[in-house]
Amino acid sequence: MSYSRRGFLTAVGATGGAGALLATMGALGLAPTAEAATRTPFVPPQPSDFSLTGRAAKKVVILGAGVAGLATAYELGKAGYDCTILEALDRVGGRNWTIRGGDRITELDGSTQIARFSDGIYMNAGPARLAQWMVTMDYCRELGVPLEVFTNSNAQAYIFNASAGMTAPVRWRTAKADVYGYISELLSTATDSGALDAKLTAQDKERLITFLRNFGSIGTKASGYAYTGNEHRGYSVDPGAGEQPGTILGPVPSLSEVLASGVGQRFSFEFGYDQAMLMFQPVGGMDSIPKAFAEAVGKHKIQLRSKVTKITDLANGVEVEYLDKHGKTRTIKADLCVAAMPPHILAKTPHNLGPDVQAALSTPTVTSSGKIGLEYRRRWWETDENIYGGITNTDLDLSVVWYPSYGYGTRRGLVIGYYNNGASQDSYAALSHPEREKRAVEQGMKIHGAKYRDELAASASVSWKLQPHIEGAWVSWPSRTGGYQLLNKPAGHVHFAGDWLSYMIAWQAGALESARKTVSDIHQRVLAG
Ligand code: ALA
Repeated sequence: MSYSRRGFLTAVGATGGAGALLATMGALGLAPTAEAATRTPFVPPQPSDFSLTGRAAKKVVILGAGVAGLATAYELGKAGYDCTILEALDRVGGRNWTIRGGDRITELDGSTQIARFSDGIYMNAGPARLAQWMVTMDYCRELGVPLEVFTNSNAQAYIFNASAGMTAPVRWRTAKADVYGYISELLSTATDSGALDAKLTAQDKERLITFLRNFGSIGTKASGYAYTGNEHRGYSVDPGAGEQPGTILGPVPSLSEVLASGVGQRFSFEFGYDQAMLMFQPVGGMDSIPKAFAEAVGKHKIQLRSKVTKITDLANGVEVEYLDKHGKTRTIKADLCVAAMPPHILAKTPHNLGPDVQAALSTPTVTSSGKIGLEYRRRWWETDENIYGGITNTDLDLSVVWYPSYGYGTRRGLVIGYYNNGASQDSYAALSHPEREKRAVEQGMKIHGAKYRDELAASASVSWKLQPHIEGAWVSWPSRTGGYQLLNKPAGHVHFAGDWLSYMIAWQAGALESARKTVSDIHQRVLAG
């Protein structure tokens, strides 16, 4: 029996369902391939993979003990690969850096801060939140890193758009009540007057209005579906016992005022796939992740304060030259290398991997980002403002204020006073730390008043572009073709890994997924001989 192509696909679709149809179309080159439609499952290498192959695990030198480098060593180590990690810094983790009291922060020009935070207080200077779908969660389970909720979105936190003329911050809940209320009023009126009849059946209209009355908490048809404000806005006097019903927060701004405030443009932040509640954080600091990896890999396999100075691909392996912790030049030879450093740092490292690799490494644009941690003597955001975790969003140059998702109800606490990037971050990076603190506090006082200055106990700031051996927060590619694709393949005996080679740039999950891909590439290569 012969099938036409269409007839064949119809038959496959009828018997095997959409999945079989898509796979068959993929095989015929008519649809995204199976690899594109589903993610390649990761199978960790294991010693038994070598049974009867006559091959053995190889020696691998890994450049960088950031999350990608550590995960590479961890996964390859499961099959007995002999891994050595060279790390320029005196700690593991790379951008996964938790700062505690006594820690030293040195910038490229040599200027130094010592964080004076109290016991139990910490600041995640880099990654600080994990989405539930990210592989980072799986590694935390596997490595025994305990997690707790990170409050990314909090109706009690504020929005403050100074450029829209706001003189006081508005709570997220209040902003939502007003925006949802007025949108519901408008849409109900339009629906009821027949303006949407081309799009809606009579039953659709009824259902839509039922939804909007609930969503926006608006009045009846008789009231013109009016939004007049209600308990969704919050209270100026909270409800109490007996004859104390509370006072709903007023006055309600006009529709025009609500639109002019621009608050509605903030809401989509929490719809992001990577930013949606619930989010998580390791208990006690994000650096529990690299510390657990380092423990599992074996600390003796990680050489700290070892800066790579040259990468040479050889006919039958690779040679890496580095400066050791005594400033002595050394070389290490291996069968394979995984360069898990930032691309812009690799681009400054002499190598013989060719002009195309060099051009690719130089292609991504480096983003600056940074944070300041402000420790307060008193958790005023909890006691005075009833804010327990979450984020205030602003159009000030500090961008956001983060309230801590740990230590609720204790005495002291640490607020992130800015977490900004681009031009705002560059303007802070150009300042000395005391000047950064002064500016951040002046800005934050617009939201929280004088206590933001008066109760401050200690602070520390990190500007990622100024961090030695890192020199940037994350990168972006002009496209995922060309250089991105080139570096997702090995150059001779050198493979690459990092969040910058994934679709999850600026997430540890990107680094972890990239490490897994590189580990699979290496293992297949070694098994194939
Ligand atoms: N992943 C980074 C964040 O959540 C960019 O802020």
